Amino acid sequence: MRVSLIVAVAANGVIGKDNDLIWTLRDDMAFFKATTKGHHVIMGRKNWESIPERFRPLPGRPNIVLSRDAAYASEGATCLTSLDAALEVAREAGEEEAFIIGGAQIYRLALEAGVVDTMYITHVERDYDGDTHFPEFVEAQWKAQPLFRHVADARNESPFEVRRYDRVALEAPAS
Ligand SMILES: NC(=O)c1ccc[n+]([C@@H]2O[C@H](COP(=O)([O-])OP(=O)(O)OC[C@H]3O[C@@H](n4cnc5c(N)ncnc54)[C@H](OP(=O)(O)O)[C@@H]3O)[C@@H](O)[C@H]2O)c1
Repeated sequence: MRVSLIVAVAANGVIGKDNDLIWTLRDDMAFFKATTKGHHVIMGRKNWESIPERFRPLPGRPNIVLSRDAAYASEGATCLTSLDAALEVAREAGEEEAFIIGGAQIYRLALEAGVVDTMYITHVERDYDGDTHFPEFVEAQWKAQPLFRHVADARNESPFEVRRYDRVALEAPAS
């Protein structure tokens, strides 16, 4: 099973503010929907709660929510206490590509665990004021490929470029 991460990041690394998204990028939202549709999506409890109730669970996708509170439950989501357990649920369901959909704590958890094979990063080409940032990652460990770019227009308040990053296989140490 491939483990992918999908995120939209401002030029200054910001991804959110006051537990909410901060931009209107309809075509990026459409890319998110098309890319994750039909797949398990794994998110943090705060990200889940930031989605208006009428829009959750994200339709057509098994929604998995991580909380350290084993008693946490929310209608429409499978609530689990570890990333390993979440990935196991997806694997056992026969998933081919599970998506880590944030927020920052869960992106960091997945990157530090080294489980992410692919990242789909929307680079929003403007700085934004915010309180939540995407974790730093070592670019050399990833092979980047631009997928498409979008100009600012009536549906998208900033220009953005979507790139796919595939983890570069680590070389075996010379003996
Ligand atoms: N731009 C984007 O693409 C994008 C995407 C997603 C989200 N966001 C933004 O990101 C912000 C939310 O991110 P966030 O970092 O504050 O919160 P988050 O990652 O969505 O959720 C954090 C919660 O996840 C649970 N958690 C964290 N580590 C865990 C672990 N090791 N095991 C089990 N559960 C764990 C905890 O829940 P409990 O407290 O219940 O224990 C924690 O409070 C919002 O502003 C949102 O809009 C942006």
